[in-house]
Amino acid sequence: MPIALTGIKPSGQPHLGNYLGMIRPALELTRAFESLYFIADYHALTTLHDGNMLRHWNLDVAATWLAFGLDPRQTLLYKQSDIPEILELCWILNCFTGKGLLDRAHAYKDALANGREVSSGIYTYPVLMAADILAFGTNVVPVGKDQKQHVEICRDIAIRFNHTYGEDLLVIPEPLIREEVQTIPGLDGRKMSKSYNNTIPLFLDSKALRKKIFQIQTDSTPVEAPKDPESSSLFQLFRYFGSSDEIASLEQRLRAGGTGWGQVKDELYQALERLLAEPRQRYNELMKHPEHLNELLADGAQRARAKAGPLLEKLRRAVGVR
Ligand code: TRP
Repeated sequence: MPIALTGIKPSGQPHLGNYLGMIRPALELTRAFESLYFIADYHALTTLHDGNMLRHWNLDVAATWLAFGLDPRQTLLYKQSDIPEILELCWILNCFTGKGLLDRAHAYKDALANGREVSSGIYTYPVLMAADILAFGTNVVPVGKDQKQHVEICRDIAIRFNHTYGEDLLVIPEPLIREEVQTIPGLDGRKMSKSYNNTIPLFLDSKALRKKIFQIQTDSTPVEAPKDPESSSLFQLFRYFGSSDEIASLEQRLRAGGTGWGQVKDELYQALERLLAEPRQRYNELMKHPEHLNELLADGAQRARAKAGPLLEKLRRAVGVR
């Protein structure tokens, strides 16, 4: 079976955008691919410099995947920092990464543009990501559009390495971009993103979730007036979560007039509550037992290391350190 691998950065509260753009599609892929999903904690360290927070988000990300049904017997779930082979490969790859390639990378360019301090970690972020991918012979990398460039950089590095030491050493991966779920609107209508502070977190309790949904911005069209569903971010969100009958009905009622935004919010809330109630309960249970989560991650790490080990040995020989 071909290998699908993806990482999630534990740097904040997972939200609906993460679920739609990343978690749900990745879980669907586990049927057709051998799946390796990991917590990219050393990537989070490029921006998160608070040990307790990083520890917390690590467990939070693990619990989130499990709450939505990731089966750790079927999918390898591990923490990046538990796999020393990744960092070893990262150094090797650093020696095959042109500075010009990194100068063009978005994460670095954004940090520069926003006047943030650029650490060597931010600058070489794509090399660590390449190591994540290449250490396991990954075939496809399911990611959001914003990560496409990083996968392309990974390909460039791998091709250069293979060209030097032998064409079959590293598997050249393909990005798998979900075109249909690209921009999920947030509370203010802009792309749902932690950096805009407009997200709907996944595991608010039911009352807080309702309150959040009622914060979604709408215009002041009166209840009785006809409304254009296409231009409403509330309706766009509903499209992702309602059943097809519910979507068709709401669309028709909006166009006809007589349905106010408050009513739409309530229907969106109902649909989300239906989706999230069970995972929320599982998540809360999981977070009560960090020791179980840690055990599970340790087991995943052991199996992941066993997978990466033989390839690393081959690479050490190829470059001549063995
Ligand atoms: N950089 C990715 C992000 O910010 C997370 C990530 C790290 C990743 N390593 C990866 C994704 C390897 C896919 C494959 O979302």
